Amino acid sequence: MTTDLLTNAPEVEAPVFPPRPPRQGRPTPHISSMDEYKKMYEQSIADPATFFGKMAQDLLTWFKPFGKVTFGSFKEGNVSWFLDGQVNACYNCVDRHALANPDKIAIIWEADEPNQHVSISYGTVLAEVSRLANVLKKYGVRKGDTVAIYMPMVPEAVYAMLACARIGAVHSVVFAGFSADALRDRMLDAKCKILITADQGKRGGKTIQLKKIADEALAECPSVHTVIVFQRTGDAAVPFHPPRDVWWHDETMNQRPYCPCEPMNSEDPLFMLYTSGSTGKPKGVLHTTAGYLLGVTATTKYIFDLHEDDVHGCMADVGWITGHSYIVYGPLANGVTTILFESIPTYPNAGRYWELVDKHKVTSFYTAPTAIRALRRLGDEHLQPYNLDTLRVLGSVGEPINPEAWMWYYKVVGRERCAIVDTYWQTETGSIIITPLPGATPSKPGSATLPFFGVDVAVLDPQTGKELVGTGVTGVLAVRSSFPSIARSIYDNHERYMDTYLKPYIGYYFTGDGVTRDKDGYYWIRGRVELDVINVSGHRMSTAEIESALVQHAACAEAAVVGIPDELTGQAIVCFCTLKTHTAPQATDQTLLAALTSQVRSHIGPFATPKRIVVTPDLPKTRSGKIMRRILRKVAAGDVGEEDVLNEDVLRLKLGDLTTLADPGVVAALVKRVATSQ
Ligand code: PRX
Repeated sequence: MTTDLLTNAPEVEAPVFPPRPPRQGRPTPHISSMDEYKKMYEQSIADPATFFGKMAQDLLTWFKPFGKVTFGSFKEGNVSWFLDGQVNACYNCVDRHALANPDKIAIIWEADEPNQHVSISYGTVLAEVSRLANVLKKYGVRKGDTVAIYMPMVPEAVYAMLACARIGAVHSVVFAGFSADALRDRMLDAKCKILITADQGKRGGKTIQLKKIADEALAECPSVHTVIVFQRTGDAAVPFHPPRDVWWHDETMNQRPYCPCEPMNSEDPLFMLYTSGSTGKPKGVLHTTAGYLLGVTATTKYIFDLHEDDVHGCMADVGWITGHSYIVYGPLANGVTTILFESIPTYPNAGRYWELVDKHKVTSFYTAPTAIRALRRLGDEHLQPYNLDTLRVLGSVGEPINPEAWMWYYKVVGRERCAIVDTYWQTETGSIIITPLPGATPSKPGSATLPFFGVDVAVLDPQTGKELVGTGVTGVLAVRSSFPSIARSIYDNHERYMDTYLKPYIGYYFTGDGVTRDKDGYYWIRGRVELDVINVSGHRMSTAEIESALVQHAACAEAAVVGIPDELTGQAIVCFCTLKTHTAPQATDQTLLAALTSQVRSHIGPFATPKRIVVTPDLPKTRSGKIMRRILRKVAAGDVGEEDVLNEDVLRLKLGDLTTLADPGVVAALVKRVATSQ
């Protein structure tokens, strides 16, 4: 394991911001003191069965009560919650609110163009979801089948997820920024027979050719027999191939607007979502019904401090876990209004988020540090025209938030009256696991602070696996015992699940992140401990995926990809490529560099665009042929200059031990290439 991220972890000194008292006319926070948090947290760890048993009864509606609350362990890899209970996620997110209050607004869809939005009631969601559920049944989808969803940010994306949940089908949402190859691999892996997609998507004034991309993917997925196509733009030039392709509007129009909910066992799968790991092959993280639903319902309620009339604005895409948990399942299970935002924060200008907050009276707002940094850079004047008075909670997710961005969020957006919640979690944890609670937790800019209920956090020595107890320690972040929303498996590959998360440190769930526990017991996330997973603008990807895209280019012999620090995006992608000998003269050829870039974009998606590609005669390798990424990362980040290469001692100081390098001369050549290529 590469642990240089963890050595020399800086002493953490930070100002402390006590929770803001509720303003006149605002609700009292659900958890309103540290004592209350501590008491509940201790109960949740000491007796999780009683704590979560009660919470599951209070927050969810069950078709059949559960028996044993929790069973299994990380050691055995058989974690289960709320055994033998029967529940339906769609019923909890839609029906129970629609039956009580059909006119209450469930979703506000803010379209790409700022003057267009639509408010959709719980009653309408119930009817639309039911119609689509009946269409899915008509095309043979049954409980346990997997349905692929490749949709833009339109309400129909949410209907598609909920329609699957309603009939017990497992949805596999593929982010609409993924390429045809990525979509194909995910549909094949999940053995999907049905795809739900749209003609085109709109984002920041641009059109995304979803159906065309889907068709390319489908050409190599013969098992997909039906493609349901929603018309987002209605462009007549979009390809359509009956009988495989059917129009969403034609099909739903003919279905009854009610469909009964399938009673699901608590441990039946609800969805899978692919995420990047340390190999090139993405893994389908599998979440089950009751545990996931309880996790997101409870975290949304307590962390965003949701009350009956609140409007929750999570700016993520439903194609990522943040969208699943905090646009769809969490807010809807709580019966509040959730915002679905089709556009980007800078379209048509950098005031877009704030216009949205003002117009829809958003009470809790959730975005990523990369967006906060970009907006901060564009200037405070973009906030001036808007009234942000309704905001109470501002959330951050996806990567560490630097203190400067935190302060800007707190002062300029929150006007020093809102709680900032820096929420740490992962696709695999399903819901937030380390976070402040508004109303209770004093915050420190840059720290995700303290664990959520039921999350028994441990800091381990990466080498020995021993627990580092007490305060002022840095190691890898692990969890000691299961909590309801933790992923149960990797689709069709339980062994990989065990190997990735549960076997590195027996008895613990291993997050893959480094962490410091400071003198007050607060947690500071230090990023991934392995260098083969990188985080660009909160998007997690594996270096192996990008490398495998590059080596598929005819000119590329070998590729090594590293993440370097980037002020805006957190990390940025730098690729080192060696060329096949017959192509060597083209090494600095711009056409070649452009071709390699587009190779990555078309194999993964535009969000994986490299910041820089360096063509080099050789890569630094050990005698056994292993690429030394540590060296590449430092050279790429500009930590080593051309003059440093001349002095062995300086080089050792900057790059560490180089004696294992097969050819020490390679470093000088690399530094030169980086200095001369742009
Ligand atoms: O490295 C951590 C980082 O994002 C990883 C999880 O990525 P993903 O599964 O794509 O989910 C992203 C949204 C939950 C983590 O292993 N990460 C996430 N939130 C934070 C964070 N790093 C620091 N602080 C956070 N608040």
